[in-house]
Amino acid sequence: MTPLYLLLTFKICLDSHFIMYLAKLKENSRSGLPLHDVERFIFVLHGAVTVTSAHGESHILKVDSYAYFPPNFEHSIESDAPAIIVVFERRYAHLSNHVTEPLVNSTDKQPLLETPGEIFELRKLLPMSLAYDFNIHIMDFQPGEFLNVKEVHYNQHGLLLLEGESIYRLGDSWYPVQAGDVIWMAPFVPQWYAALGKTPTRYLLYKDVNRSPL
Ligand SMILES: *[C@@H]1O[C@H](CO)[C@@H](O)[C@H](O)[C@H]1NC(C)=O
Repeated sequence: MTPLYLLLTFKICLDSHFIMYLAKLKENSRSGLPLHDVERFIFVLHGAVTVTSAHGESHILKVDSYAYFPPNFEHSIESDAPAIIVVFERRYAHLSNHVTEPLVNSTDKQPLLETPGEIFELRKLLPMSLAYDFNIHIMDFQPGEFLNVKEVHYNQHGLLLLEGESIYRLGDSWYPVQAGDVIWMAPFVPQWYAALGKTPTRYLLYKDVNRSPL
């Protein structure tokens, strides 16, 4: 078995509390486990992977499908043909009387959520219950659509542009971005997005939630 080949790994700055990386699986790849107390989220970008829990339950995940593994949950991610996944991991912030559950699903099965004052389409890939200390948002913009407000908040983001091209403003800098580009947004960095390309855009966004920033 070949170990996961890490195409790109980054823990950009000491202040980042999560890691985000693309894993390029070769034929007959099999993952290792995250570190102790670290939860893991994967989303399939290319090809297909099989996720299996220690109980033997197995699921095949194709493009647009994802899985969440609670901390210290034994599992494997395998592929017999080349595949690419994006992986998020963070040390789980425990909350008494709450536990997260392993789950497998796909973006297309998630309902559209209300976005008061905004026009983009929003789906959340993880439950919104208190047990979860982060969520992954999928955000769709039609050409010309943009965020209504320039946001500033304590939450961190890891963004992967899945489709289209557009412009991201961070502080006073403006960055043209296209599918495949990744952005880490530190707490309190002013941020604004406009889908200025000719085609719709979609991005995937990590956000820490449900825990005090202190
Ligand atoms: C996938 O998500 C949908 C919407 O949240 C939910 O109704 C469905 O039960 C989930 N499927 C599985 C296998 O958990």
